[in-house]
Amino acid sequence: MVKIGLFGLGTVGQGLLQLVKKSPYAEIKAVVDRSYQKKKDILQDIPASDDPSMILENPEIDIYVELIGGIDFPLFIAREAIDRKKTLITANKALLAEHGYAIFSRASLNEVHIGFEAAIAGAIPIVRNLMSVINYQPISRLQGILNGTTNYLLTKMAKRKAPYHEVLKEAQELGLAEADPTLDVNGMDACHKLALLASLITNKWFEYERIETVGIEQISLSDILWAEKMGYKIKLLADYHYNDKKHFISVEPTMIPSSSPLYAIDNEDNAILVKGEFSGEHLFAGKGAGSLPTAYSVYADIVNYALGRHSSWDMKHPEYAAIAPESGADYEFYIRLQVQNRPGVLAKAAQSLGSRGISIAAVHQEAIYEENSQDPVDLVIVTHHCRKEVLTKALAEIEKQDYCTNAAVKIPIKGSDTPKK
Ligand SMILES: NC(=O)c1ccc[n+]([C@@H]2O[C@H](COP(=O)([O-])OP(=O)(O)OC[C@H]3O[C@@H](n4cnc5c(N)ncnc54)[C@H](OP(=O)(O)O)[C@@H]3O)[C@@H](O)[C@H]2O)c1
Repeated sequence: MVKIGLFGLGTVGQGLLQLVKKSPYAEIKAVVDRSYQKKKDILQDIPASDDPSMILENPEIDIYVELIGGIDFPLFIAREAIDRKKTLITANKALLAEHGYAIFSRASLNEVHIGFEAAIAGAIPIVRNLMSVINYQPISRLQGILNGTTNYLLTKMAKRKAPYHEVLKEAQELGLAEADPTLDVNGMDACHKLALLASLITNKWFEYERIETVGIEQISLSDILWAEKMGYKIKLLADYHYNDKKHFISVEPTMIPSSSPLYAIDNEDNAILVKGEFSGEHLFAGKGAGSLPTAYSVYADIVNYALGRHSSWDMKHPEYAAIAPESGADYEFYIRLQVQNRPGVLAKAAQSLGSRGISIAAVHQEAIYEENSQDPVDLVIVTHHCRKEVLTKALAEIEKQDYCTNAAVKIPIKGSDTPKK
């Protein structure tokens, strides 16, 4: 029986307690939690304290499981685990993205195993599969829907034809979004997870602060409805691709065509699409959060340890990955301009794009407006492949024209193919 010291008896910790109670492989020897006294019914006869020495000073304990969240105290626990040569299992992506370089390299040097399956996509077994099956070949692309809250909000906006703030309030009332949803909606949670996934597949270290990250706060209902009309869905896409010997990596709202396997991933579900040079595309999908789904990934790491099947990430002296500027990436784009409803506007916008070599694949204009209305209208343009930086310059020029009444919206359109040079 593996003996566990559990830090944190919250949502995931309580799920783990339920799973371990019935386990033939592991038992919880002690719990450290700041409000353990309020959780006596859940703890029953398991010793508990708010003092970490209850676990740290117990030589019987084999594994530290960290389910506290935040950074400072979990970092202390990680350092103690590595120095004391105890296996560490954690669901804490923020900790690993921020301090993973030091944690993983120190753990490799000390031959300490770190299990972090639950940190990436809740119940989806992506770390194990990447480390032990998929990663023996070059991986040219990894795309993920890695944040359940944002996927839920975007799905509900489309289904209910409701604006962002309305669905966010409703999701908070249902407990599907945090009271403070900042790290979810600004893309940072997905960015932490993508940094770890890209590091895993390249065995280099990706600094999450250098990943271009755009959240969903500015996505308007108009864009969601236009996407639907054109056969796309807007998703917060975490995207890594290796092209022309460069690592491109970003998190941003993206138009997903119906041909992509990620198109069907709705509500709070998560998914990861990985393309191996020899094995082709693999889709991993499932629950990205929740008490039992997340606890299950923690539990699976514990059982693998108990059965001696864990494989450690060898990161003794990781190189930092050089990230190619996203401005140089090449995609098709959806553009929405708000323009005055008068003749010649489309020709002028097309001229600004065409003079920079940006070619137009399709144009849409909302037909519900009166012919002589003074109200601005949506002019939606889909481009062929073009460089992001070139498009940004063309849109800056368009925004200065008197016919353009609002800031232009640009959203990349990404299928699952690796972009070609
Ligand atoms: N929830 C999910 O679905 C999910 C999914 C994937 C990954 N994760 C990750 O799993 C970890 C835990 O998440 P969670 O949702 O279970 O969090 P949570 O519900 O807030 O639970 C955290 C627990 O740790 C306790 N705690 C907080 N700070 C402490 C401190 N300084 N000393 C001792 N105890 C402390 C809390 O006590 P109080 O009760 O007093 O707050 C609470 O019992 C996080 O890293 C999170 O990112 C969660």
